[in-house]
Amino acid sequence: MPGAALVPGAELREMPMVAKAAARTGSNARSALDALREEATGCRRCPLWKPATQTVFGEGPADARLLFVGEQPGDQEDRAGHPFVGPAGQLLDRALAEAGIDRAAIYVTNAVKHFKFEPRGKRRIHSKPNASETEACRWWLDRERAIVRPHVTVALGATAAQSLLGRSTTISGSRGRAIALEDGSELWVTVHPSFLLRVPGEDRRAEEYRLFVADLERVRERLAAL
Ligand code: URA
Repeated sequence: MPGAALVPGAELREMPMVAKAAARTGSNARSALDALREEATGCRRCPLWKPATQTVFGEGPADARLLFVGEQPGDQEDRAGHPFVGPAGQLLDRALAEAGIDRAAIYVTNAVKHFKFEPRGKRRIHSKPNASETEACRWWLDRERAIVRPHVTVALGATAAQSLLGRSTTISGSRGRAIALEDGSELWVTVHPSFLLRVPGEDRRAEEYRLFVADLERVRERLAAL
């Protein structure tokens, strides 16, 4: 269960040296996370680092009980170096507030830490990360989760859900219930906020947003009960 050892043995063996030293003390998750973030600035585990501006690492309290995972940074996140600060992030913030979840209390990260895009004139169009890019980047996500040890992880969208489950899944097949993860914590799956921005028709968009907030409310209630 979360809260036993700070970093389980297998993850610790695989950790970069700097992060390993901090994590082993068991007292300093913040230092371990900061060291891991520093390591990730030079990540070359897949080719996505080349065209991207920078690695966009997770952010939030090192002892957060709730951890959110998106797909990958978007255009604005790539420039700013922070996750979920663009349009999808603003929608996420609004939904979190409506669901009674304080963003400052959660750890927010992505399955893939570099922006993947197709250049189109001056614009950079989001391109979905493939399985090998997601798999390569899971190395970082596993270690973020091993340090933070959240009680509940929320997957925003199918890419995040697949990364966390290690198998492909659909939102409809996994939404709205707790899924046990190997470390004893829970995974909850919901839609990605970018999907909500693209839903055609005002009524349908409002309904999908309402369902998203309802998912977040259920997560808040579940967390309070754990
Ligand atoms: N979409 C994501 O999945 N993550 C971000 O950080 C921004 C947009």
